Amino acid sequence: MAKRPEWLDNAVFYEIYPQSFADSNGDGTGDLPGITEKLSYIRELGCTAVWLNPCFESPFLDAGYDISDYCRIAPRYGTNEDMYELFRRAHELGMHVLLDLVPGHTSWEHPWFRESMKAEENEYTHRYVWTDSVWTEPQGYASLRGISQRDGSCVVNFFTHQPALNYGFFQPEQPWQQSMDSPGAIATREAMKDIMRFWLSKGCDGFRADMAGSLVKNDPDSEGTIALWQDIRSFLDEEFPDAALISEWGEPDKSLAGGFHMDFLLHFGPSHYNDLFRCEKPFFSGKGSAAEFVKKYRENYDRTDGKGLICIPSGNHDMDRLARSLHGDSLKLAFAFLLSMPGAPYIYYGDEIGMRYVENIPSVEGGYGRTGSRSPMQWDRTANAGFSSAPAEKLYIPLDPDPDRPTVSGQMADPHSLYSEVRRLIALRHATPALQSTGKIEFICDGSEGQPLVYTRSTASQKILVIINPTDRSFKYRASGDIIYSLGKVTSDRDGIEVPAVGAAFCNAE
Ligand code: NOJ
Repeated sequence: MAKRPEWLDNAVFYEIYPQSFADSNGDGTGDLPGITEKLSYIRELGCTAVWLNPCFESPFLDAGYDISDYCRIAPRYGTNEDMYELFRRAHELGMHVLLDLVPGHTSWEHPWFRESMKAEENEYTHRYVWTDSVWTEPQGYASLRGISQRDGSCVVNFFTHQPALNYGFFQPEQPWQQSMDSPGAIATREAMKDIMRFWLSKGCDGFRADMAGSLVKNDPDSEGTIALWQDIRSFLDEEFPDAALISEWGEPDKSLAGGFHMDFLLHFGPSHYNDLFRCEKPFFSGKGSAAEFVKKYRENYDRTDGKGLICIPSGNHDMDRLARSLHGDSLKLAFAFLLSMPGAPYIYYGDEIGMRYVENIPSVEGGYGRTGSRSPMQWDRTANAGFSSAPAEKLYIPLDPDPDRPTVSGQMADPHSLYSEVRRLIALRHATPALQSTGKIEFICDGSEGQPLVYTRSTASQKILVIINPTDRSFKYRASGDIIYSLGKVTSDRDGIEVPAVGAAFCNAE
């Protein structure tokens, strides 16, 4: 288990999609000086760390997940100096900054790929996964074919314009499949370390690693990929022992074995995450069940020896906004859950005010259905919701057109708003060690249909009982103790604690 930087134990993250957060120069697209200016807002909400989606040079066919220069900030966001300034200001506010590391692929415009496409052998010939002839298709992988002088097909990692970097095959089976210790695979790994070294030495505090489990090919049990990350972890331990690493992997046992500090719970695959938030009958709407989620969560928790370092996000740039399927107090319940679970919680920008999914807008930069969750932050009721001074038609993504769209300024002024509830919950988490990342969790009721979700969080000296009741009936639980948080009119007497319909209570368990 990698040694964790202390700040992670009580970190509450805020994810910023840089295009859409704050536009300081009026060109319609968010930028780094805009983010720096708003860091105090994030700090005031109670978040102690931010994760920025990629802000590096890119042709932006996948909103920046198609990088063409890992060490240069894309001009539309500002300069490298602006990023250093963002680090500096965050540290001044006691915050930490994670950048998005995209180790699995580059843009097809990256100079490495341009060189790699050449027929003549050069330094980058083996930087990507190529077959030995254009007529050989890589079985089981999508590929780019017929676009290079080089006679070969190149494996892609995600969209067609994202060629896969070569970290080798765990079990090479074809002559063109290189092993993990081939010079080409080692050179790619070292290049990735150089990129990390570059940003960490400028003040970055760590990385969220994109598709972290995808690097080594033909690696059915991820043994090769785990070994690769372990090597990266030892480099970090030696040169940047405080650097935090969080993976987009969705298998915490593998990720933690690879040296990551925490792993994201994914919205796809077997996690049942969206049973809670986004499906026909989400648990927090009071109509669905949390039971399958709890079952999977427990399995993962047990597999990581109860370390439970699984990050549950409120949402992210790849999934529907929370407020697309949850409304009113159901949203508050969802946050009561998110902010009382182990692992670091992640709040996607705007979810704290219930920003909505913007329906029926054209795809922007490879967003497709994801575009509606990436609209500009709604700060106030001035032009463009205070996001930008550009003409409305120049905004990177159109705003939520509803004149009653929620805004930061409106919700900050209202003690009953979602924002105020989220702020209260974060403050409570900061003040209550058992609710933080490493406090142990034990489920008591698994939120089967019509039932609440009940669990305890504990440290050696503190035990908190959490009752979350999204159903339409009140629920009485046999327990006693001081109530430290309530949503709705919670009462307590000798027979127990009564939580109203669509209500929640946290109490000191005795
Ligand atoms: C996961 C990212 O979150 C997503 O936005 C991106 O399109 C893919 N990885 C490819 O990098």
